[in-house]
Amino acid sequence: MKQQRASVFASGTGSNFDVMMQDEDIANSIVLLVCDKPGAAVIEKAESLGVPTLVLDPKIYSSKQEYEKVIYEKLQSLEVDWIFLAGYMRLIGETLLSQYEGRIINIHPSILPSFPGKDAIGQAFRAGVSKTGVTIHYVDEGMDTGPIIAQEEIEMIPGETEEQLKTRIQAVEHRLYPNVMKQLMQNVTEEL
Ligand code: GRF
Repeated sequence: MKQQRASVFASGTGSNFDVMMQDEDIANSIVLLVCDKPGAAVIEKAESLGVPTLVLDPKIYSSKQEYEKVIYEKLQSLEVDWIFLAGYMRLIGETLLSQYEGRIINIHPSILPSFPGKDAIGQAFRAGVSKTGVTIHYVDEGMDTGPIIAQEEIEMIPGETEEQLKTRIQAVEHRLYPNVMKQLMQNVTEEL
């Protein structure tokens, strides 16, 4: 039975990466952190936990294809099976999509298809909806458009601030993402 090997792509704080690393099974599967923002806090987190990092500055590549080719070569050299996006603020291009079909997963802080793209929590907050939540989905070429794997709703609380809503959404993310990751990787292992 082949142990699944995962990479995490992140651009920012890395609170989702943090909780993944607190789960022993997931931590054992993570072999690489990919970051497109030199200096992002998540890089230091990975380094302090002994996770190898690939930090790239997309601006120095002539195209998305060239940029993703560098990532793909690294993923191949580490025999990575899965790409889990956790706050990676960039669309995935054809180079990675074609090589990792059905193996690229994203977490988004809204109930998709509502509020795709940036600042989803703020978008929902300002829209005055009665519910929002978290979606985990397969990644396709669109912005937060791929097939949905899991969703969890939360009710808005009258009078709460956007920051309080964000804290509650992140608590859902931190529980849901590790569970879904484990299910996905386990299902594949059982199929082999
Ligand atoms: C999360 O809210 C995730 O849903 C979104 O970006 C945020 C990343 O947060 N895609 P963190 O860097 O994991 O704290």
